Amino acid sequence: MVVVGVVDVVVGAVEIVVDGATVVLVTVVPVRSACTRASAGEVLVDTDPAEHATATRRLARAARSGTRRTTRLVSLVPVRGSLDRVMADKVTVPQIRNRKGGPKITMVTAYDYPGAVIADRAGVDIVLIGDSVANVVHGMETTLEIGLDEIVLHTRAVRRAKPRALIVADMPWLTFHLSEQDTILNAGRLVAEAGAEAVKLEGGRKRLPMIEAILSAEIPVMGHVGLTPQSVHAMGGFKVQGRMVDAAREMIDDAKALSDAGCFAIVIEGVPDVLGEIITKEVDAPTIGIGAGPKTDGQVLVFHDLLGLGSGDYPKFVRSYANLADQAVDAISRFKADVESGSFPADDESYHVPDEVASELLKGTRSD
Ligand code: KIV
Repeated sequence: MVVVGVVDVVVGAVEIVVDGATVVLVTVVPVRSACTRASAGEVLVDTDPAEHATATRRLARAARSGTRRTTRLVSLVPVRGSLDRVMADKVTVPQIRNRKGGPKITMVTAYDYPGAVIADRAGVDIVLIGDSVANVVHGMETTLEIGLDEIVLHTRAVRRAKPRALIVADMPWLTFHLSEQDTILNAGRLVAEAGAEAVKLEGGRKRLPMIEAILSAEIPVMGHVGLTPQSVHAMGGFKVQGRMVDAAREMIDDAKALSDAGCFAIVIEGVPDVLGEIITKEVDAPTIGIGAGPKTDGQVLVFHDLLGLGSGDYPKFVRSYANLADQAVDAISRFKADVESGSFPADDESYHVPDEVASELLKGTRSD
């Protein structure tokens, strides 16, 4: 099956046969992310049948001539109803809270506009402006080096993509440790200035007063327990946490306290699979695992790790679904070769003036 169209501006789809191939034609309207959850082959309700007909004809022509890039719709569900309804499809905090026990939640980090567009087109539930941006984008050794101003900047870029996914921004180290007032103001900057819809912060019961303060300001909070990278020095390195019974029990109690305080979801990072499973069973809030086994209510990966855009030195829990770093090196090498051989730019990649203008311009110059 060939799917033709631009997924993030789709509002309708119909399956036809073009030259023997099954083609899903999608109706394109100027609405981003309208129906990234449409099933390939599913016919969706159109808001404007006239527009559907035009788009269908145009896409059929493109499919025949092979000019339109083909793409594939993945993990999709039907969206029916008016455009308003489709736009109301935005993922919200209560929706995530209700995903306890399933369907599984997918979260991916995004740090900029194109990353957020890509993640949203893939239909993830949550985009996280993680402080991992320190490592994967800024090349810093630890997440302790990134500040609130940088997370605000990255969150603003993600926000401009207007994702359907819920936007969660990480609170950097020392932005939620000093006083409740300071913590609320910092969380508030991420929401008011940057456009986050919720914040995430690392730590267990020790952080409860700050979590409660943020919640009292009506800002939803995602918790984070286990291998919390902001505690790298206290942990003595990036080590799997909760391997011993006492430490595991402490972590279960931490997670329960976060959930009882009102965190709408809890990230569990770098723990044995059995602990990921126990915490998930013990707490009311949905859990989102990273290196915490398969039994959590959702999974999160870092954008650059899952796309193979990093150094290649990934932790065991990372599954890279692509190797974009190698593809990028290959593309840029080919560009360099074309520049050096003079084959780039070609005639049709250059601007022209009529011959008489060109010869007038050339008169008296060194190229004459
Ligand atoms: O900063 C980050 O990317 C994170 C995820 C790994 C959960 O906190």
